[in-house]
Amino acid sequence: MITLSPEGIRTDRLALLPLQVEHADEMAAVLSDPGLHTFTGGMPDTPQALRVRYERLVAGSPRPGESWCNWAIQLRSAACLTGYVQATVTADDRGASAEIAWVVGALWQRRGIATEATRGLVGWLRTHPVHTVVAHIHPDHKASAAIATAVGLTPTEQWHDGEIRWQLTIS
Ligand SMILES: CC(C)(COP(=O)(O)OP(=O)(O)OC[C@H]1O[C@@H](n2cnc3c(N)ncnc32)[C@H](O)[C@@H]1OP(=O)(O)O)[C@@H](O)C(=O)NCCC(=O)NCCS
Repeated sequence: MITLSPEGIRTDRLALLPLQVEHADEMAAVLSDPGLHTFTGGMPDTPQALRVRYERLVAGSPRPGESWCNWAIQLRSAACLTGYVQATVTADDRGASAEIAWVVGALWQRRGIATEATRGLVGWLRTHPVHTVVAHIHPDHKASAAIATAVGLTPTEQWHDGEIRWQLTIS
């Protein structure tokens, strides 16, 4: 059964760093804008709550065959964290499928960071036996639809919790 662990990923401007508990304090500031939750619900975490959350994420999924892969996005030129990308990878009899998501802090938006990071993530998934990449996106979320399109996902007819399932079939 396939299990994946996040590895460092480098793109033109970014380093995707496998998430560590030590990222929590800097990331809590990056993610402090309530506007980030417009389409996904919830509220920004305090540094302490984020640390607890990251401890759980880094420990990994308790479900056999499920891998939690999380990266902090670093803009290399500024040596700053700017957001995160994630993939929940589920093994099956054909390899694995990956559900992905992306978040970039308000200060860093509209610079192509989410698109570049997500492209790096999907490129990394392609180097593993992942046959399907999925994202769930609110129908009004234009920015995420643009990101999904840019990295090769297309919308399906399927909905889940008020969001449209987007999909990329690799093989
Ligand atoms: C969605 C999000 C990740 C975009 O981050 P970003 O780094 O600003 O995205 P990019 O700069 O790569 O831009 C991606 C596309 O969205 C467009 N875009 C970005 N912000 C936008 C906005 N507020 N309104 C409309 N379009 C927007 C860009 O123009 C670009 O489109 P283009 O390639 O056609 O020019 C960021 O707004 C975010 O984290 N939002 C909250 C969390 C969230 O909803 N995540 C999605 C979970 S799946």
